[in-house]
Amino acid sequence: MSDQRTVLITGGTGSLGFRTAEAILRDPDRVVVITGRGADAVNAAAARLGDRAVGMSLDLASLPAVRRFARGFGELGLPPLHAIVCNAGTQIVSGAVRTVDGIEQTFAVNHLAHFLLVRELLPTMATPGRIVFVASDTHDPAKPTGMPRPVYTTAWDLAHPDDSDTVGPGLAGRRRYTTSKLCNVLATYEFARYLDTGTVPPAVTVNAFDPGLMPGTGLGRDYRGIQGWAWRYLLPALTIIPGINVHTPRRSAAALARLVLAPELAGTTGRYFSGRREIESSAESYDIAKGEDLWKTSVEIIEKL
Ligand SMILES: NC(=O)c1ccc[n+]([C@@H]2O[C@H](COP(=O)([O-])OP(=O)(O)OC[C@H]3O[C@@H](n4cnc5c(N)ncnc54)[C@H](OP(=O)(O)O)[C@@H]3O)[C@@H](O)[C@H]2O)c1
Repeated sequence: MSDQRTVLITGGTGSLGFRTAEAILRDPDRVVVITGRGADAVNAAAARLGDRAVGMSLDLASLPAVRRFARGFGELGLPPLHAIVCNAGTQIVSGAVRTVDGIEQTFAVNHLAHFLLVRELLPTMATPGRIVFVASDTHDPAKPTGMPRPVYTTAWDLAHPDDSDTVGPGLAGRRRYTTSKLCNVLATYEFARYLDTGTVPPAVTVNAFDPGLMPGTGLGRDYRGIQGWAWRYLLPALTIIPGINVHTPRRSAAALARLVLAPELAGTTGRYFSGRREIESSAESYDIAKGEDLWKTSVEIIEKL
């Protein structure tokens, strides 16, 4: 019998997702499914990864599309689903955008779509299984990232914000981003609690991952002017400085692939990793009331759409 297992990575056309697929495929027993919005881009990326990679179009800005994708996943005839890497992410600094479902897009893509995807696919997962949410140290105001601190009011407000913008689109957009990354960490801890059935090791583990700053990636595609120039051409030079949390996507991908594959992490769940190091996430990310609010409201929204 084949030992092959499938790993699903959202956002596999981009920097971290693509490099993570590459790293995971070094294990000959893995098949990887990568997703991206455009069929051409995702098929081209899968072709570059080789014959154990499958590319599938998926726009995370549509909850019905996410549900259709998840429900059709089992019919692809792939080896059992072993891991889901919730990697795709967006940062919009040019003004608030709503999805086709009427939800603020950063919250919708970075959190809600992955929440729905994981819930839909969980019953089909092979055990032991692993889920990793790609978060960011920018969720933590104690870290010197230069990003605005997250503002978590209620999940309902995050999904349906008052669009009157008093701080300017750049700051508001970056704040929506850091808040969505806080949601990734809150969701990690909620899923870990939900899936804790007392078995050792747990049937499905759920952890959060901070790749560190990876300047030059598509995450800065909405940056304009000097900011865009610095992101693309200047800041990547920082990756050669040792000891700071700035990395190439390839280096961060190796640490992310470890969370999916390393045998020594089989029993690790509900934890936060910065690269290879397990560390504490922000104080706010351990707020159980906020985690429960996020869970309850996310269920309410996905059940309506
Ligand atoms: N770069 C950093 O400094 C940094 C730091 C901390 C955390 N992170 C996190 O790392 C993850 C990967 O970021 P990256 O830097 O590799 O960015 P990236 O190069 O822009 O890659 C993002 C991926 O997400 C996909 N994506 C974006 N919007 C999507 C949507 N609406 N529907 C479906 N897919 C969508 C993109 O695919 P298509 O465009 O092909 O659809 C792309 O494959 C994100 O979660 C990000 O928050 C990044």
